[in-house]
Parts: sequence; structure tokens; C-alpha cells
Amino acid sequence: MKVVIVENYKEMSKKAADMIKETVKENPEAVLGLATGSTPEGLYNELIDMNKKGEVDFSNVTTVNLDEYIGLDGNNTQSYRYFMNNKLFDHINVNKERTFVPNGMAENIEEEGKNYDKKIDELGGIDVQILGIGVNGHIAFNEPDDVLTAGTHKTKLTKSTIEANSRFFDTIEEVPTEAITMGLGQILKSKKIILLVKGINKAEVVRELLQGVITTKNPSTMLNMHRDVTIIMEKEVYELIK
Ligand code: F6R
Repeated sequence: MKVVIVENYKEMSKKAADMIKETVKENPEAVLGLATGSTPEGLYNELIDMNKKGEVDFSNVTTVNLDEYIGLDGNNTQSYRYFMNNKLFDHINVNKERTFVPNGMAENIEEEGKNYDKKIDELGGIDVQILGIGVNGHIAFNEPDDVLTAGTHKTKLTKSTIEANSRFFDTIEEVPTEAITMGLGQILKSKKIILLVKGINKAEVVRELLQGVITTKNPSTMLNMHRDVTIIMEKEVYELIK
């Protein structure tokens, strides 16, 4: 596991964007695994900037996102499809038909999950997967539990996640309680993983991850089983861990 300490959020976003740029330069048809939440917003702004300046061409990439709320369609401003269009896809030269987000409106979520995994496998897997991390150690919406699920599946959000995500909604009651999420088995199949750690409230769970522990109670620790993980962390978080 490679740990990169950066001065601030801007530098984190820039570093991650440079890594994506390199991946796309090496393989213009790369499959990019993307995340939502506040952490990758700076990265997406950097990518938009690079694309506008002609430094990176997304016309042949495919993107796959980690998760979506169940019950929200892509026009709902709180959905992750809307987030991705609004924060990235509408501003770069990606072919929208090759941007995939799990369908939270699917009648049969189990089947949707199976099809999503099949699609990723058919694409040849994810070349680089961007991850954020929850304050409880969740990765995508794989919440701490006695057991974790390998493939894309339906999951119930924990109280802590609902509370954390309520900042994007008018009231906490509006936050969906279920999601469809890529499982850790699928995430760990990615060729390269970049975990972005933004915010000192993530320090505790990241400390455990860096201790080399592997526990389903802190799903991020599963990343200890992957051979190519880069963690980009703000200095203020690292100060609390070291
Ligand atoms: C989002 C996702 C989540 C977030 C995590 C951190 O697609 O999968 O795991 O990465 O909840 O969220 P932020 O970045 O808002 O702190």
C-alpha cells in the first residue's frame, strides 16, 4: 500500500487527476471506476480543467460508478447519476452511453447487481478505481457488518451513513435508507485503486486500515488484500494517525 501525504485538498485532487490522466494516456479506452460524495469533487474539477485544455481525452473511456440510492431516478437531484452528470460527465467529452451507474429504480435489484458485475467483467474489469471512505470505514456502500458481499448488491445504510449523507438533503427523513452498491469482491478486482482521504473525521478508520488489520467491521481494511492501492491523504489527517 502506497501512502501519499499531501498538503491540502487541492493537491490531493491534482495528484489523483494526474494518475487518471496517465491511465487514459496509456490506454485511451480505459475503464474508470468512479465515486460520488464530497471527496472526489475536486478531482472531477481538475479533470474537467485538463479536458478543456486538451490535456486528456475521454472520448473513448468507459466509466462505472460504485453505487446509487434505491428509489431515486437519474433526474432526481440527489441521485448519484445526477451527481455524476452534473459534476463531471456534462463537462467533459465522455460518451454518456459509456457511463454506467447502477440503476436504483430497477424492479429487480438483485438481477441489476448481477448484470452490473457482468458488464464490468465484459469490459475487461476496472483499470483504476477511485474511492472515498465513510467515517465508519465503509467503501462504496459496503457498511461494517459480520459478513460482506462480494458482488454488486442491495444494502441497508447504517444510521451513521444516513446522518453523514443528510447534509445533502433538506431533512434526514428524505435520505434513502437503501442503496445498490458494488461489493468489495468486485472493487478488489480493479487493477489499481486510489483511495482519497479527506477530513479528520476519517482518521480513526484509516489508522486501522494502515495497521494492516483485516476486518468486516471496517470494510476499508479489505484494501489490505489488494496489490496496488495508493492512499492520498491530507496532512492534517496523517498528523492524527502517525
Ligand atoms: C460514494 C461512496 C461513499 C463515499 C463515502 C465518503 O460513491 O461510495 O463510500 O465515498 O461515503 O463520502 P464523502 O466523500 O462525502 O465524505
